[in-house]
Amino acid sequence: MAEATAEGARSVQGVTVELKYYITPEELVDFDAVVVGIPTYHHDMTVDMKNLFEAAAVKNISLKGKFGAAFGSYGWSGEAPRLVLEIMKNKFEMDVIESPLLIKYTPDQAGLEKCRQFGKEISERLMLQT
Ligand SMILES: Cc1cc2nc3c(=O)[nH]c(=O)nc-3n(C[C@H](O)[C@H](O)[C@H](O)COP(=O)(O)O)c2cc1C
Repeated sequence: MAEATAEGARSVQGVTVELKYYITPEELVDFDAVVVGIPTYHHDMTVDMKNLFEAAAVKNISLKGKFGAAFGSYGWSGEAPRLVLEIMKNKFEMDVIESPLLIKYTPDQAGLEKCRQFGKEISERLMLQT
């Protein structure tokens, strides 16, 4: 899902994309948009993602005005991407892109195409603003 989303985001001229499996709170500042991919486990987001946001908050990292989006694979409830968007919006005052993209379990070709489209739309929003 992340690779397809990044591919779609890269297809818009003027946008550069970095696909990261690990990022520090300080590095978040380098980007105009932060797109989080996250699965739902036990009706929640993963601990590493919570820790990233906690660390960013403790360090007073400002993400205000940056675009935020989220997507994720899920099995039956799929709360995690929405929880991420809530933190982005309410805690970090980011400009959140609704709605999160949810795909049940492993994406098929149609699911991957949705991811590409999702990434493309985020980049288009970004380019409209800048
Ligand atoms: C221990 C465990 C707990 C899970 N809890 C949830 C859950 O609360 N809600 C949900 O929608 N899916 C749940 N799932 C399903 C996962 O979100 C789903 O398998 C997803 O595709 C995992 O993505 P990943 O393979 O990228 O980690 C759970 C899966 C496992 C193994």
